[in-house]
Amino acid sequence: MKRDALPAAASAPAADTAWAALRDAASAPYRTTGRWAWHWARGKLSGDPAFRALLERGAMTARARVLDIGCGQGLVASLLQASADAAHGGDWPAAWAAAPSARAYTGVELMARDVARAQAALQALPLQPRFVNADMCHADFPACDLVVILDVLHYVDHAAQQAVLARVRDALQAAQGRLLLRIGDAGSRRGFAVSQWVDRVVTMARGHRVAPTFGRPLAAWIELLEALGFAVRAVPMSRGTPFANVLLVADLGGHAR
Ligand SMILES: C[S@@+](CC[C@H](N)C(=O)[O-])C[C@H]1O[C@@H](n2cnc3c(N)ncnc32)[C@H](O)[C@@H]1O
Repeated sequence: MKRDALPAAASAPAADTAWAALRDAASAPYRTTGRWAWHWARGKLSGDPAFRALLERGAMTARARVLDIGCGQGLVASLLQASADAAHGGDWPAAWAAAPSARAYTGVELMARDVARAQAALQALPLQPRFVNADMCHADFPACDLVVILDVLHYVDHAAQQAVLARVRDALQAAQGRLLLRIGDAGSRRGFAVSQWVDRVVTMARGHRVAPTFGRPLAAWIELLEALGFAVRAVPMSRGTPFANVLLVADLGGHAR
């Protein structure tokens, strides 16, 4: 029987309580880098359903080497550490899939300010995350078991998206690994327009130049990934938000699980 089918043990914290504790723990390291980074981390973990869903569903379970492309201030690294700590302390909900157990993390991020914030907040974590300030279109991707790309690929044009995904496939090939790719479904016009508008506002608020964005309908994303050899499962990932976000769980070496 799969672990997430087991009934919750009496001693396990209720899922909502566990998630609140994980959110607090993953946000806490950013306090050292200023209130803005801490508020951003808490806001993102509270308002974006993807982070909790990734843990609940076990999407990152049993993947040792993680590459996070467009990692921003490294929230995934902090969440991986908080998850490992919670599991180690017996505070992991029995109703969830097993906690992730990453042993290495590399984040690639274009914006130097985000990289500096990530390093300042997270470099002392036991996971020892590594952050690289680089353009994903040119950065080397290390061999890995899991690639995470959340809301990033639409910043580059279609040819560049395809080239990045081909190099992601190469980085995952030896491990027959997994790509977690969150995209906005351009076929869902209203939700996609809302996410583009929010993207622009946030990009400007963070002092970045607002670049054009390049969407694809969901079916086109899936077709692209399948052509690269991935087996793909689409999971709606915008519950409680006005966006049209979808998480694509793309596995090499067989069927998407
Ligand atoms: C919407 S944010 C998502 C951040 C993070 N993945 C998350 O979910 O919290 C998109 C991130 O992608 C980064 N980005 C955009 N273009 C990039 C590129 N060519 N190479 C690397 N990072 C890029 C942006 O600077 C930004 O931090």
